[in-house]
Amino acid sequence: MSPIALGVEFEDPVLERSVRAGLNAIEAQLRAAVDSEDEFVAGAARHLVDAGGKRFRPMVTMLAAQFADPSRPEIVPSAVVCELTHLATLYHDDVMDEAPVRRGAESANARWDNTVAILTGDFLFSRASNILADLGPYAVRLQARTFERLVTGQIRETVGPRPGIDPIDHYLAVLGDKTGSLIATAAEFGAHYAGAAPDIVESLRTFGEQIGVAFQLSDDILDIASESAESGKTPGTDLREGIATLPALYALRGTDEADRRLRNLVGRALPDDAEHAEALRLLRSSAAMDEARATLRDYAAMARETLQTLPDVPARAAFATLTQIVIARTG
Ligand code: IPE
Ligand code: IPE
Ligand code: MG
Ligand code: MG
Repeated sequence: MSPIALGVEFEDPVLERSVRAGLNAIEAQLRAAVDSEDEFVAGAARHLVDAGGKRFRPMVTMLAAQFADPSRPEIVPSAVVCELTHLATLYHDDVMDEAPVRRGAESANARWDNTVAILTGDFLFSRASNILADLGPYAVRLQARTFERLVTGQIRETVGPRPGIDPIDHYLAVLGDKTGSLIATAAEFGAHYAGAAPDIVESLRTFGEQIGVAFQLSDDILDIASESAESGKTPGTDLREGIATLPALYALRGTDEADRRLRNLVGRALPDDAEHAEALRLLRSSAAMDEARATLRDYAAMARETLQTLPDVPARAAFATLTQIVIARTG
């Protein structure tokens, strides 16, 4: 899927030209950054770049840059750093989630094995570090802090809530850490390197965090609601692994007698195909799905409120459209 195919309509032709030029430059630098003298490494690193991807984070960086001077030279490499970081986490995530399909292609762990997938992810992090070194200490530090939050979120997801902590609060905090963190930074990089005023950078960062959580919520809803042709992933991967995402957590919290079987199935690993299919079917038609969609709308509304604190430039409308797309993709 090309970045513009993310579906953002640009009403302003100047904005469209600038964003399109930025995304094209990011794509070229991304491809250069994953190349290697070693043919095997190059092939493994290119695998998921070639497979597709929405380039959501580069879009966020390019739109945030529009609040000042989007032609500044550090913007594109900073976006490449975010996309490389994201890409590397996908290689690792599919190992941890034992996911066979990514971006409509075989995951690296399925195509090769876990070792290749993990080391290719590490290779991509090293390439991101190389670009960061040229950007300087501000970028290195921001990326380090972002990555710390991201991996802490992934660990917290694995470990689960501490006793006494509400599982839904835990889950929402995990989303901020594992996904909101990098999208917030994608926005900050764009705004900062474009030379935006500090309060604008801060608002865009907040917006990035909020739309990032909404984005992950919609991803978790899609994991249950979608067919693999739409998502490019295997539906019900979270359920299979026993990872209770928001729809499952709402189902577990319910007391309706009719949902007793569903409550018995979610929140534990389901290696049995028949049980997995049953859980997916029951969850898809449950009230918990509607509740999860309502929470998604709440986060999107918060993101839109943050947008109101920003100057009314054409990129603000484009960000509002992007927020709408995040909701609409869950059907
Ligand atoms: C997938 O991210 C993982 C999440 C954080 C939801 P994307 O949905 O942005 O994945 P690609 O880059 O389009 O494949
Ligand atoms: C993706 O998380 C990795 C990060 C957010 C760091 P998920 O496991 O929730 O996403 P998908 O559904 O596999 O893309
Ligand atoms: Mg996953
Ligand atoms: Mg995961």
